[in-house]
Amino acid sequence: MAKVVLITGASSGIGRITAILLAQHGYIVYAGTRDPSKFTIKLDNLHVIALDITDHQSIKHTIDAIQAEQGRIDVLINNAGYALVSTVEQASEEEMYNQFNINVFSILRLCKAVTPLMRINNSGVIINISSFLGKIGLPLFTFYNASKYAVEGITDSLRYELKPFNIRVHSIMPGFFNTNFAKGNLVLNDATVDENSPYSELASNLLPDILAQINGGNEAKEAAALIVKTIEDDASPARSTVGDKASKFIAMRRELSDEDFERRVREYYNLNG
Ligand SMILES: NC(=O)c1ccc[n+]([C@@H]2O[C@H](COP(=O)([O-])OP(=O)(O)OC[C@H]3O[C@@H](n4cnc5c(N)ncnc54)[C@H](OP(=O)(O)O)[C@@H]3O)[C@@H](O)[C@H]2O)c1
Repeated sequence: MAKVVLITGASSGIGRITAILLAQHGYIVYAGTRDPSKFTIKLDNLHVIALDITDHQSIKHTIDAIQAEQGRIDVLINNAGYALVSTVEQASEEEMYNQFNINVFSILRLCKAVTPLMRINNSGVIINISSFLGKIGLPLFTFYNASKYAVEGITDSLRYELKPFNIRVHSIMPGFFNTNFAKGNLVLNDATVDENSPYSELASNLLPDILAQINGGNEAKEAAALIVKTIEDDASPARSTVGDKASKFIAMRRELSDEDFERRVREYYNLNG
């Protein structure tokens, strides 16, 4: 029987390519996006659906509709996410909350909504798209880092909670990927990037490098291939990295002390102080 997948943030980048690849592999895919008009490719078993991941009712409506059409949801891929670029000092309450609302609370909302169905079926796979910045801190990315560290924590805890019901939970930590992320989903705090900001030197040292690394990063299809493999291989690890920078930095992070690792990152990004 074809597996039924729900993926979030499907209009671009990793989400879009993954939705298409899964449909091509014969999965029945529900590609959730804020704006279905942005997803123009038509495939028989690919359903593009409007989904507001910040809204409990929108999630319930979507899950109920899939359950009514297919009688099951086998796989949930929590992919939607963006990065707030701000110092801690300059971020507004709204900016802080939004970062967690999208990157963290939406994952919890979706997990809450699908687990009863997966539990009854005694089967399921949940894949959380995290980041290598879920294990590594960078200045100006404190909120994004904190949100992705939280995704790692959610993955670790849920694995215990859901294993008795034969539900697997995994995190995938991409490095830099050449998607719409740099163009559309790095949200800059105006004060942080203002030339009169006390942090302007840090911002002008770091951000051009990060943008160049995202734009010159790996292709989304590599992440999509790993997502498919993670779904299909029951023995997939709890967390995997994908992309050159993730593999390099996560390996280095495991080997070095906190202080030595910080020194390497400072050298790499030319961070003083
Ligand atoms: N690109 C990278 O270098 C990189 C590195 C590490 C981790 N990641 C992670 O990979 C995932 C996918 O990112 P991507 O690289 O494929 O970037 P992308 O092309 O910008 O896609 C991000 C998706 O997230 C959704 N999204 C963004 N802001 C949102 C908001 N405020 N509310 C609801 N949905 C929102 C969008 O979904 P809709 O518009 O379809 O609703 C969009 O399709 C994210 O979780 C990101 O943190 C990316």
